Amino acid sequence: MERIELCGALHARVDGWRAAGERLALVPTMGNLHEGHLTLVREARAHAERVVATIFVNPLQFGPGEDLGAYPRTLEEDERLLAREGYDLLFAPAIDALYPRGQEDQTRVEVPRLSDILCGASRPGHFVGVATVVCKLLNMVRPDVAVFGEKDFQQLLVIRRMVEDLAIPVEILGAPTVREPDGLAMSSRNGYLSSQERRRAPALYRALTLAGDALREGGAVDEVEGAASAVLREAGLRPDYVSVRRASDLGPVAPGDCDLVVLAAAHLGRARLIDNLRVLRCSKG
Ligand code: PAF
Repeated sequence: MERIELCGALHARVDGWRAAGERLALVPTMGNLHEGHLTLVREARAHAERVVATIFVNPLQFGPGEDLGAYPRTLEEDERLLAREGYDLLFAPAIDALYPRGQEDQTRVEVPRLSDILCGASRPGHFVGVATVVCKLLNMVRPDVAVFGEKDFQQLLVIRRMVEDLAIPVEILGAPTVREPDGLAMSSRNGYLSSQERRRAPALYRALTLAGDALREGGAVDEVEGAASAVLREAGLRPDYVSVRRASDLGPVAPGDCDLVVLAAAHLGRARLIDNLRVLRCSKG
């Protein structure tokens, strides 16, 4: 287990493994690791001989006024957690190593439309930043598989679309959301919550669960969205959006669509929390 900060050293190490015929898995993260990330590492390990984790708080995916400066940086503790899972390499570059020409002059990758809705509408440029850094990491490591959490459902679809459209030879795997016992999805941003806010936060998953039940019982999409938003507001959260979409491409639900996803984002104190729930319903329309 080794930590590398420079791109040249990363290339040398992964080229060696690939030349020896070993399969590589990539787990990109922004650090401040929790059980959700460790699940990604385990999934990666199940698919490859070598697991490369990355920790990089990517400035390109934060908008002005967002939490780039405050985002928790806990590299030593992260390394300790990763060591328990038996990773092979941690790539933790400085900003200059990944964006040597500066952020403004960095070539960007844009997945149109899918990047502009839901979280992309509230955070303009966010998914361009995500797609750019993930594309770059995929090109540097050239893994056989890369693993991302389903908690960031829209991000997962953006990455899958990018990989397909740019013919990047990698398999993208999604790993299920890991939840606290009260249902709150694990997230580094949960650390922003005060103890009082933390008690309110499970309302996000509760709202999604109620929405899922209502959809399966034949509830109309706009009514279900409205009821879920009301649950959030009653619990003291400020909904950014609650939206029922087609799971395959986040398009609007059409009559006969069975595979749905309810996505929600809400503000609670300093935190903007997101979560989603997949819903299979046999629809009459
Ligand atoms: O999900 C994250 O932590 C980030 O968006 C990712 C995929 C590591 C890109 O910076």
